[in-house]
Amino acid sequence: MSASYATAPGRLPGLGHAVALMRGPLGFLTSLRTHGDLVRVDLGPMPSLFITSPSLIHTLLTDRKDLLDKGRFYDKVRPLTGNGVIHAYGDEHRRQQAMIKPSFHRDEITRYVEVMREVTEEKSRSWQAGGRIPVDRVMRDITFNILARTMFGSVVDRAAHEELAAILPTVLEAIMWRTVSPGDLLEKLPLPMNRRFDTAFTQLREAISRVMLAYRQNSVEPGEAGMLSMLLAARDPDTGRAMTDEELCNQIVSVTMAGSETAATAMAWLFYELARHPEIEERVREEVADVVGDRDFELADVGNLPYSRRVLQELMRVRQPILVISRRAVRDFPLGGGHVRAGTELFYSPYAVHRDPDLFPDPLRFDPDRWLDKPATQLPKGAYTPFGAGPRHCVGEQFAWAMMHVVLGTTIRRWRLTLPDGVKIKEMPWATVNPNHMPMTVTPAPRRTRVARE
Ligand code: HEM
Repeated sequence: MSASYATAPGRLPGLGHAVALMRGPLGFLTSLRTHGDLVRVDLGPMPSLFITSPSLIHTLLTDRKDLLDKGRFYDKVRPLTGNGVIHAYGDEHRRQQAMIKPSFHRDEITRYVEVMREVTEEKSRSWQAGGRIPVDRVMRDITFNILARTMFGSVVDRAAHEELAAILPTVLEAIMWRTVSPGDLLEKLPLPMNRRFDTAFTQLREAISRVMLAYRQNSVEPGEAGMLSMLLAARDPDTGRAMTDEELCNQIVSVTMAGSETAATAMAWLFYELARHPEIEERVREEVADVVGDRDFELADVGNLPYSRRVLQELMRVRQPILVISRRAVRDFPLGGGHVRAGTELFYSPYAVHRDPDLFPDPLRFDPDRWLDKPATQLPKGAYTPFGAGPRHCVGEQFAWAMMHVVLGTTIRRWRLTLPDGVKIKEMPWATVNPNHMPMTVTPAPRRTRVARE
């Protein structure tokens, strides 16, 4: 890495910025912009470059895309997750992306919307007026069930979906431990935790094998086996080859890793923001009553709810779940007037950029109508990237918007979720920025009649 970049304050000999980061990662990351567009941060002995300028983030993700892989943290988990789409780079990434994209086609999302609605209705059916629910855990449960059902379709029964939805968090936990643990000694020890992780991976592989068997015996119509049937039908654009069982499993783990915590965390914060802004909640409820009424939510509704869309857009700004995105230079290249050497780990924080006061005045204010004054298209490139940019742009973006709309619209028609007096919610930085807890009181929603729309 070129020596011309500023170094973040708080560096300690031998420890680098580890202490500063651990003391207050959110404050540390959001303050980096005041030190420069590219700031050196040493993660222990490992020198890394944090990019704070939106235009350089955009350059990195688009113009320098062929000079990057995903970096050290992904190397650590690859032995566990295999080389799925979130790990692969270059031609291999392009090949894999081409194979998984059809699973996220609009026709498929239309089918997934039914699942999203069913799961939300099922999970909220047991709520009692006046009762308390842990919204963070409820949103994880809803998300994992939606993912399990959209992935495995109706080939496996409801009990198997619940079982899979229960396995997936353990698979992700194993991956997170692998990412943060120093060296690889911990995962080789016969600890109960490692046995639990091994069991979860075995169960996941077995479930995938069962679905594949049913599919290959032609007892399943295309589409009926969910996303997995699309992956089974996918062919390598160059060789025409289908994915092996191992590759399929890697893609399922990749999609789960990318799509679960992100969406679950965002939706937990969504209900928190609505509870803090009852006037916004009421406008969303009115809009949903007006457009959807009492019928089932459909994919077409997603494009027909402008206020709900702005609420979600603002949510993805101020409650951007992803704290840090990583890359690593595989070759030397110029960036921002300096020089990045091959091997340099590069990071940027969408969470921090979305809270930059130069880009978003009064950045912590939850204000969906700010998008009326300044639509995303008028912002500098790289300023608002909730789903990334360039060739690694989130393949699940339309899935995520649909899921957030459906969960919001389905819930808000029947329920109000309010924060009990005295409950304080804190942000907990992990792979995503999670709430430390989120107990909320459930009350029936006021009945809405159709009103004039904007
Ligand atoms: C609110 C929810 C979500 C957010 C904020 C989000 C955000 C992102 C971002 C920022 C990236 C790019 C990462 C990078 O540049 O390294 C990404 C990639 C990805 N996302 Fe999402 N995502 C969400 C939901 C989903 C869902 C629901 C799915 C699937 C069901 C999904 C699947 C993926 C996959 C497979 C990738 C990797 C793409 C690649 O490397 O080619 N995401 N996501």
